[in-house]
Formats: sequence, C-alpha cells, structure tokens
Amino acid sequence: MNPDLAQHGVRTAWLTGRLCEQLGLEGAQARSITAAALTHDVGKQLLPQELLTKPASLTRIEHGIVRHHCAMGAWMLRQQAQSDVSISGDAVTVALLHHEWWNGHGYPFGLSRQQIPLAARIVSVADVFDALCSERSYKGAWPVNLALDYIRHRASVQFDPWCVEALVSLDVGVLAQQYGEGVDPVVIAPVGVPARPRTEAPAGLDFLV
Ligand SMILES: [Fe+2]
Repeated sequence: MNPDLAQHGVRTAWLTGRLCEQLGLEGAQARSITAAALTHDVGKQLLPQELLTKPASLTRIEHGIVRHHCAMGAWMLRQQAQSDVSISGDAVTVALLHHEWWNGHGYPFGLSRQQIPLAARIVSVADVFDALCSERSYKGAWPVNLALDYIRHRASVQFDPWCVEALVSLDVGVLAQQYGEGVDPVVIAPVGVPARPRTEAPAGLDFLV
C-alpha cells in the first residue's frame, strides 16, 4: 500500500480508539471500530495514484472518480473477509460509509443521522481530523486547534455532534504530540458555541477525501 495511505490509516485508527474511549465504547465493539478505521481508505489503492498526489484541489470529474474508493474498498474487504477472519466486522461498513454526512449531503448514498452506522460516524470525524492535521499534496498540515475548530463548526452538518463532542473533549496536548507540533493559541469554544467563520479554509476543502 502507498505509505502515506497506510500511515493515514494507522493515525485514523489511533484517533478512532481515543474517540471510542471518550464515547464509553469498549471491548469487542471498540476493537472492531478501531480496526475498521485502519482499512477505511483501502479502496484508494485502486485509484489512479496521480489523483491522490495532485498538488491542487480535484476537479469535479476527478472527485467523482475518487468517490468510487468507498465502494471499491468495501468490495475488497468483503472478498478478503471470506478467507481472513482478522477482518473487522465493521470494516466493510466503514469503508463504504465513512464519507456519509450527518445532514445527508455525503456519499455514496446520502444517508443521514442514525441511518449512518455509529462506526462510520466515529471514523468520519477521525478521518477528517487526521487529513486536516497532515500534509497533503494540495495543502499543508493544519495546527491541531484550527482543525478542532473546523470540525466543531461542522457538527450536525457533516459530523455526528456526539462524536464531535468526544473529539473536542480529548486532551489537546496529546493530540498536538501525536501530530508533532505545539498547540496553536486559538481559543477552543465549547460545544454549541459557534466557531469562528472558516474564511481561511482553502478553496475546495469540502472535497477533502
Ligand atoms: Fe475516504
């Protein structure tokens, strides 16, 4: 697997584990969701790699191609699960549904709220947070506090507000340590308080994949 993709999976699984703890999930359920986070983007292996390393936002046509990674990943994991018992019970679901949005504007099916399985709602938050805090070909790594602010701003829009609350309840210092940086002196507003407008967000960020 592409090393950047593999590292994104490992970091997303780490953060998913922390979110599960914060949400009071434990045992086999937490282990299954965390393991599913590891392989959530496995379908990207089948995409033209130049799309994943393009040093600019994707066009709508390119994004339409990248969207197929959800169904392709689910298909790959379903095949693998037939002979590999280590594949998590949530792996197929998470690969397929981690880009669904709380408000129904995500993909591939436009599911909303509790129609989206909890595992996918948790991994969605961890996935986007990791993408924001990591360098991508089309953007630099964001400071942890800025990424937290961005995700809070999208609670009940893109993300399950319960999962957002779990994220912002985590120790910011631990997150900063994981992402190898100091804490940006942005004041984190409590859940429910409108965050600052995201005017500094790079164009095309809604197409983060
Ligand atoms: Fe993805």
